[in-house]
Amino acid sequence: MIAQKKKVYLETYGCQMNVSDSELVLGLLNKEGYDITNSIEEADVVMVNTCSVRENAEQRVYGRLGEFKALKNKNPEIVVGVLGCMAERLRDKLTDEKAKGVGQIVDVIIGPDEYRKVPELVNKAWHGEKGIAVRLSRVETYDDLEPLRTEGISAWITVMRGCDKFCTFCVVPFTRGRERSRTLTSIVHEVELLSARGFKEVTLLGQNVNSYRDGEYDFADLMRSVAEVDSSIRVRFTTSHPQDMSDKLIKTIASYPNICKFIHLPFQSGSSRVLEAMNRTYDREHYMRLVKKIKRTIPDVCLSTDIIAGFPTETEDDHRQTLSVLNEIRFDGAFMFKYSPREHTPAFTMVDDVPEEVKSRRVTEIVELQKAISLEKNREMLGKTVEILVEGESKKSSLEWHGRTDGNKMVVFPKGDFSIGDYVTVTIVRANSATLFGEAHSYGEEIPEELLAAVA
Ligand code: SAH
Ligand code: SF4
Ligand code: F3S
Repeated sequence: MIAQKKKVYLETYGCQMNVSDSELVLGLLNKEGYDITNSIEEADVVMVNTCSVRENAEQRVYGRLGEFKALKNKNPEIVVGVLGCMAERLRDKLTDEKAKGVGQIVDVIIGPDEYRKVPELVNKAWHGEKGIAVRLSRVETYDDLEPLRTEGISAWITVMRGCDKFCTFCVVPFTRGRERSRTLTSIVHEVELLSARGFKEVTLLGQNVNSYRDGEYDFADLMRSVAEVDSSIRVRFTTSHPQDMSDKLIKTIASYPNICKFIHLPFQSGSSRVLEAMNRTYDREHYMRLVKKIKRTIPDVCLSTDIIAGFPTETEDDHRQTLSVLNEIRFDGAFMFKYSPREHTPAFTMVDDVPEEVKSRRVTEIVELQKAISLEKNREMLGKTVEILVEGESKKSSLEWHGRTDGNKMVVFPKGDFSIGDYVTVTIVRANSATLFGEAHSYGEEIPEELLAAVA
């Protein structure tokens, strides 16, 4: 009799790097003979890939582990694993049987640089052996491993790992260790394989992608090489740090039609004094000049950003400076957070002196302003014709597709005869702050007068 394959269920929290790492881990387990399942009830191995960036990210994972406890009570055989950034930060807590009870149920704890050990440690856990592997590495890039990609047309590719920036609020340098890059040839080879499989979009990932380096090649060289593999593949990247955004990279983005004209460029605070306290290594003027240059070189560029409200010592005036950056630049989108003190980071020793209600009020003001700007910017798209890559069914209707513009704006439109992976020309007829709605055309087809009249 053939033994039934064991099934693995993996839930992912945090940034895209974690999504990409989860694909690596599933690739390793799959090769080892495990099946992957989306149903936690039928799983023999239940894992979470975790994030430590803010307190509430960790709380969510603790909550989830609490729920896994019920599963384990029902079936003590299952193996529970904690992967990712929390494994680095909280290994002691996670093994402490008293700490919220999760110590009793966690069998394996594996940090971001030790994923090669996942199959071995999970195999040992079947025999009751608990396992921890949380060492950080200066060299591990998983260059030779094949991730398990189940999503059809869009691929994440981690090109560099770690971060050397040490912004004072941030845990990432502690949870992911020092910067290191994959080789350009291995990345280009991966894109060639993805092209042969019919992929239509790749996103190059790193906490600080512009620090990418392989000998004499920098990130702009990598972007160029990737863009040249297949002109029908869209190339995106995230995240870039304002300090390392080179002219060469801006020009490279401008000069390749298949490099998306979209840049995520976190500014965090509009106040140079706060930026200094954050150790962001640039000031407000540098950031504004940089954005001007980007807009000049890439006229249709779409921009998004990250903002932290209520960093220690932030005054009302600092906060107003953040709002004024939003008004001046008019980002297409933003991720906005309340400052969350993280143990062991340099800012943790500063007094968290902005009261919770002030942080909440400030972040709400930022969110409201950005929402209004996003709506205005989306309304500017009315009547415009854009090219969309069809990514999947709309969440709200099985009769519609969703896809994104080159500038990363989500567009929903009737399915027609189009399929996932098609590039479709769409005229925008309706907009809210998060989504555009459109009508599709075939290439070369004239846009009907009544459609344009409807949006005028
Ligand atoms: N490497 C990226 C950011 C990674 S973390 C960069 O430097 O741009 C994603 C975002 O989370 C950050 O840009 C920041 O806005 C937010 N963040 C990180 N640490 C935080 C903290 N302690 N409190 C609140 N927000 C935080
Ligand atoms: Fe964190 Fe700063 Fe590194 Fe981004 S650049 S990951 S915010 S330390
Ligand atoms: Fe979170 Fe780690 Fe990413 S802390 S944001 S999962 S690098």
